[in-house]
Amino acid sequence: MNHSSTGYSGTARALHWIIAVLVLLMIPAGIVMVQQGLSRPLQNTLFVFHKNTGVIVFLLMVLRLTYRQINRPPDLPDHLPGWQRRAANLSHRALYVLLFIMPISGYVRVKAGRFPIEGLDALGIGTFVPASKALASVAQTVHFVTAFALVAVLLLHVGAALQHAVLRRDGVFSRMWPPFGH
Ligand code: HEM
Ligand code: HEM
Repeated sequence: MNHSSTGYSGTARALHWIIAVLVLLMIPAGIVMVQQGLSRPLQNTLFVFHKNTGVIVFLLMVLRLTYRQINRPPDLPDHLPGWQRRAANLSHRALYVLLFIMPISGYVRVKAGRFPIEGLDALGIGTFVPASKALASVAQTVHFVTAFALVAVLLLHVGAALQHAVLRRDGVFSRMWPPFGH
Protein backbone atom coordinates (compact mmCIF):
# COMPACT_ATOMS: atom_id res chain seq x y z
CA MET A 1 0.00 0.00 0.00
CA ASN A 2 1.35 3.38 -0.92
CA HIS A 3 0.85 5.46 2.16
CA SER A 4 3.30 8.24 1.44
CA SER A 5 0.62 10.37 -0.22
CA THR A 6 -2.09 9.74 2.37
CA GLY A 7 -0.25 9.26 5.63
CA TYR A 8 1.10 11.50 8.37
CA SER A 9 4.44 13.20 7.66
CA GLY A 10 7.71 11.79 9.01
CA THR A 11 7.78 14.50 11.69
CA ALA A 12 4.20 13.79 12.81
CA ARG A 13 4.97 10.06 13.01
CA ALA A 14 8.17 10.56 14.96
CA LEU A 15 6.38 12.84 17.44
CA HIS A 16 3.45 10.41 17.77
CA TRP A 17 5.62 7.42 18.58
CA ILE A 18 8.13 9.18 20.83
CA ILE A 19 5.29 10.66 22.88
CA ALA A 20 3.38 7.35 22.84
CA VAL A 21 6.38 5.45 24.26
CA LEU A 22 6.99 8.10 26.94
CA VAL A 23 3.32 8.22 27.99
CA LEU A 24 3.07 4.43 28.07
CA LEU A 25 6.04 4.45 30.49
CA MET A 26 4.71 7.43 32.50
CA ILE A 27 1.37 5.82 33.33
CA PRO A 28 2.72 2.67 35.05
CA ALA A 29 5.49 4.72 36.68
CA GLY A 30 2.83 7.09 38.11
CA ILE A 31 0.70 4.24 39.39
CA VAL A 32 3.59 2.28 40.94
CA MET A 33 5.38 5.22 42.57
CA VAL A 34 2.43 6.05 44.86
CA GLN A 35 2.07 2.48 46.18
CA GLN A 36 2.82 1.67 49.80
CA GLY A 37 5.83 -0.46 50.67
CA LEU A 38 8.15 0.57 47.82
CA SER A 39 11.80 0.92 48.71
CA ARG A 40 12.84 4.56 49.07
CA PRO A 41 15.43 4.50 46.25
CA LEU A 42 12.97 2.89 43.81
CA GLN A 43 10.22 5.32 44.73
CA ASN A 44 12.60 8.22 44.35
CA THR A 45 13.83 7.05 40.96
CA LEU A 46 10.27 6.62 39.70
CA PHE A 47 9.26 10.08 40.95
CA VAL A 48 12.28 11.74 39.33
CA PHE A 49 11.62 9.87 36.07
CA HIS A 50 7.88 10.66 36.15
CA LYS A 51 8.14 14.36 36.90
CA ASN A 52 10.96 15.15 34.49
CA THR A 53 9.72 12.98 31.64
CA GLY A 54 6.30 14.58 32.12
CA VAL A 55 7.83 18.00 31.51
CA ILE A 56 9.47 16.64 28.35
CA VAL A 57 6.09 15.28 27.18
CA PHE A 58 4.60 18.75 27.71
CA LEU A 59 7.32 20.41 25.62
CA LEU A 60 6.94 17.78 22.88
CA MET A 61 3.16 18.35 22.88
CA VAL A 62 3.66 22.10 22.41
CA LEU A 63 5.94 21.32 19.47
CA ARG A 64 3.48 18.78 18.10
CA LEU A 65 0.43 21.04 18.30
CA THR A 66 2.33 23.91 16.69
CA TYR A 67 3.55 21.61 13.93
CA ARG A 68 0.01 20.32 13.39
CA GLN A 69 -1.43 23.82 13.04
CA ILE A 70 1.02 24.44 10.20
CA ASN A 71 0.98 20.96 8.63
CA ARG A 72 -2.58 19.60 8.72
CA PRO A 73 -2.73 15.80 8.49
CA PRO A 74 -4.52 14.34 5.45
CA ASP A 75 -8.19 13.42 5.83
CA LEU A 76 -9.10 9.86 6.68
CA PRO A 77 -9.97 7.71 3.63
CA ASP A 78 -13.47 8.16 2.15
CA HIS A 79 -14.36 4.50 2.57
CA LEU A 80 -14.64 4.98 6.35
CA PRO A 81 -18.19 5.68 7.54
CA GLY A 82 -18.81 9.23 8.73
CA TRP A 83 -19.30 8.22 12.36
CA GLN A 84 -15.88 6.55 12.42
CA ARG A 85 -14.21 9.64 11.04
CA ARG A 86 -16.02 11.78 13.62
CA ALA A 87 -15.11 9.33 16.41
CA ALA A 88 -11.45 9.38 15.32
CA ASN A 89 -11.34 13.18 15.23
CA LEU A 90 -13.08 13.50 18.58
CA SER A 91 -10.81 10.97 20.29
CA HIS A 92 -7.69 12.61 18.83
CA ARG A 93 -8.86 15.99 20.12
CA ALA A 94 -9.52 14.43 23.51
CA LEU A 95 -6.01 12.95 23.55
CA TYR A 96 -4.47 16.33 22.79
CA VAL A 97 -6.47 18.01 25.57
CA LEU A 98 -5.70 15.26 28.10
CA LEU A 99 -2.00 15.28 27.20
CA PHE A 100 -1.88 18.95 28.12
CA ILE A 101 -3.95 18.66 31.30
CA MET A 102 -1.79 15.80 32.64
CA PRO A 103 1.60 17.55 32.70
CA ILE A 104 0.15 20.94 33.70
CA SER A 105 -1.78 19.49 36.65
CA GLY A 106 1.29 17.42 37.61
CA TYR A 107 3.45 20.51 37.53
CA VAL A 108 0.99 22.53 39.63
CA ARG A 109 0.55 19.67 42.12
CA VAL A 110 4.31 19.38 42.62
CA LYS A 111 5.23 23.06 42.55
CA ALA A 112 2.30 24.32 44.66
CA GLY A 113 3.47 21.72 47.19
CA ARG A 114 7.00 23.15 46.83
CA PHE A 115 8.52 19.85 45.78
CA PRO A 116 11.40 19.75 43.29
CA ILE A 117 11.32 19.11 39.55
CA GLU A 118 14.99 18.34 39.20
CA GLY A 119 15.48 19.17 35.50
CA LEU A 120 13.72 22.54 35.68
CA ASP A 121 15.39 23.41 38.98
CA ALA A 122 18.85 22.59 37.58
CA LEU A 123 18.16 24.93 34.65
CA GLY A 124 17.21 27.65 37.13
CA ILE A 125 13.64 27.85 35.82
CA GLY A 126 11.56 29.45 38.55
CA THR A 127 8.22 28.35 39.92
CA PHE A 128 5.10 29.63 38.15
CA VAL A 129 2.58 28.81 40.88
CA PRO A 130 2.21 30.04 44.47
CA ALA A 131 2.88 27.70 47.38
CA SER A 132 -0.59 26.48 48.37
CA LYS A 133 -1.78 23.25 49.94
CA ALA A 134 -5.29 23.84 48.59
CA LEU A 135 -4.03 24.39 45.03
CA ALA A 136 -1.76 21.34 45.26
CA SER A 137 -4.70 19.26 46.39
CA VAL A 138 -7.00 20.44 43.57
CA ALA A 139 -4.24 19.76 41.03
CA GLN A 140 -3.70 16.30 42.53
CA THR A 141 -7.39 15.49 42.04
CA VAL A 142 -7.35 16.82 38.48
CA HIS A 143 -4.25 14.72 37.73
CA PHE A 144 -5.86 11.62 39.20
CA VAL A 145 -9.23 11.98 37.43
CA THR A 146 -7.61 12.94 34.11
CA ALA A 147 -5.37 9.86 34.33
CA PHE A 148 -8.49 7.65 34.26
CA ALA A 149 -9.92 9.54 31.29
CA LEU A 150 -6.58 9.26 29.47
CA VAL A 151 -6.33 5.51 30.05
CA ALA A 152 -9.95 5.04 28.86
CA VAL A 153 -9.45 7.04 25.63
CA LEU A 154 -6.10 5.30 25.03
CA LEU A 155 -7.71 1.87 25.31
CA LEU A 156 -10.24 2.90 22.65
CA HIS A 157 -7.49 4.49 20.54
CA VAL A 158 -5.09 1.55 20.60
CA GLY A 159 -7.97 -0.91 20.16
CA ALA A 160 -9.23 0.97 17.08
CA ALA A 161 -5.72 1.32 15.64
CA LEU A 162 -4.93 -2.39 16.09
CA GLN A 163 -8.27 -3.36 14.63
CA HIS A 164 -7.39 -1.38 11.50
CA ALA A 165 -3.91 -2.95 11.46
CA VAL A 166 -4.83 -6.59 12.00
CA LEU A 167 -8.46 -7.13 11.00
CA ARG A 168 -9.36 -4.46 8.45
CA ARG A 169 -5.93 -3.88 6.90
CA ASP A 170 -7.40 -0.82 5.18
CA GLY A 171 -4.36 1.44 5.23
CA VAL A 172 -5.41 3.48 8.29
CA PHE A 173 -2.68 2.00 10.48
CA SER A 174 0.00 2.71 7.88
CA ARG A 175 -0.93 6.41 8.04
CA MET A 176 1.03 6.42 11.31
CA TRP A 177 3.33 3.40 10.83
CA PRO A 178 6.31 3.03 10.54
CA PRO A 179 7.41 5.49 13.23
CA PHE A 180 10.32 6.99 11.30
CA GLY A 181 10.27 8.02 7.67
CA HIS A 182 7.52 6.83 5.33
C1 HEM B 1 0.73 1.87 21.19
C2 HEM B 1 -0.23 1.80 20.39
C3 HEM B 1 -0.68 2.90 19.46
C4 HEM B 1 -1.05 2.71 18.17
C5 HEM B 1 -1.06 1.37 17.45
C6 HEM B 1 -1.43 3.99 17.63
C7 HEM B 1 -1.84 4.21 16.33
C8 HEM B 1 -2.26 5.40 15.79
C9 HEM B 1 -2.67 5.61 14.43
C10 HEM B 1 -2.72 4.51 13.36
C11 HEM B 1 -3.01 6.91 14.28
C12 HEM B 1 -3.50 7.60 13.00
C13 HEM B 1 -4.99 7.62 12.98
C14 HEM B 1 -5.49 8.30 11.71
O1 HEM B 1 -5.06 7.89 10.64
O2 HEM B 1 -6.26 9.25 11.79
C15 HEM B 1 -2.81 7.57 15.55
C16 HEM B 1 -3.06 8.90 15.82
C17 HEM B 1 -2.90 9.48 17.05
N1 HEM B 1 -2.42 8.86 18.20
FE1 HEM B 1 -1.87 6.94 18.40
N2 HEM B 1 -1.31 4.96 18.59
C18 HEM B 1 -0.85 4.34 19.73
C19 HEM B 1 -0.57 4.95 20.92
C20 HEM B 1 -0.82 6.26 21.21
C21 HEM B 1 -0.59 6.89 22.48
C22 HEM B 1 0.01 6.20 23.72
C23 HEM B 1 -0.98 8.18 22.36
C24 HEM B 1 -0.91 9.27 23.38
C25 HEM B 1 0.11 9.46 24.11
C26 HEM B 1 -1.47 8.38 21.01
C27 HEM B 1 -1.96 9.57 20.49
C28 HEM B 1 -2.40 9.79 19.21
C29 HEM B 1 -2.90 11.05 18.72
C30 HEM B 1 -3.05 12.35 19.54
C31 HEM B 1 -3.22 10.86 17.37
C32 HEM B 1 -3.79 11.90 16.41
C33 HEM B 1 -2.63 12.52 15.69
C34 HEM B 1 -3.01 13.76 14.93
O3 HEM B 1 -3.99 13.74 14.16
O4 HEM B 1 -2.31 14.77 15.11
N3 HEM B 1 -1.36 7.19 20.34
N4 HEM B 1 -2.34 6.62 16.45
C1 HEM C 1 1.81 13.07 30.12
C2 HEM C 1 2.13 13.37 31.32
C3 HEM C 1 1.72 12.60 32.56
C4 HEM C 1 1.02 11.44 32.71
C5 HEM C 1 0.41 10.54 31.62
C6 HEM C 1 0.94 11.17 34.14
C7 HEM C 1 0.30 10.08 34.71
C8 HEM C 1 0.18 9.85 36.06
C9 HEM C 1 -0.53 8.74 36.65
C10 HEM C 1 -1.26 7.65 35.87
C11 HEM C 1 -0.42 8.86 38.00
C12 HEM C 1 -1.03 7.92 39.05
C13 HEM C 1 -2.41 8.39 39.42
C14 HEM C 1 -2.37 9.42 40.50
O1 HEM C 1 -1.99 9.08 41.63
O2 HEM C 1 -2.70 10.60 40.23
C15 HEM C 1 0.37 10.03 38.28
C16 HEM C 1 0.70 10.51 39.54
C17 HEM C 1 1.53 11.59 39.77
N1 HEM C 1 2.09 12.41 38.82
FE1 HEM C 1 1.84 12.31 36.85
N2 HEM C 1 1.60 12.17 34.81
C18 HEM C 1 2.10 13.06 33.89
C19 HEM C 1 2.85 14.19 34.13
C20 HEM C 1 3.30 14.58 35.39
C21 HEM C 1 4.15 15.73 35.65
C22 HEM C 1 4.73 16.68 34.60
C23 HEM C 1 4.34 15.78 36.99
C24 HEM C 1 5.13 16.76 37.80
C25 HEM C 1 6.03 17.54 37.36
C26 HEM C 1 3.60 14.67 37.58
C27 HEM C 1 3.55 14.39 38.92
C28 HEM C 1 2.84 13.36 39.48
C29 HEM C 1 2.75 13.15 40.92
C30 HEM C 1 3.42 13.98 42.01
C31 HEM C 1 1.91 12.05 41.10
C32 HEM C 1 1.49 11.42 42.42
C33 HEM C 1 0.16 12.01 42.77
C34 HEM C 1 -0.08 11.95 44.23
O3 HEM C 1 0.46 12.82 44.90
O4 HEM C 1 -0.79 11.05 44.65
N3 HEM C 1 2.98 13.96 36.55
N4 HEM C 1 0.72 10.62 37.06
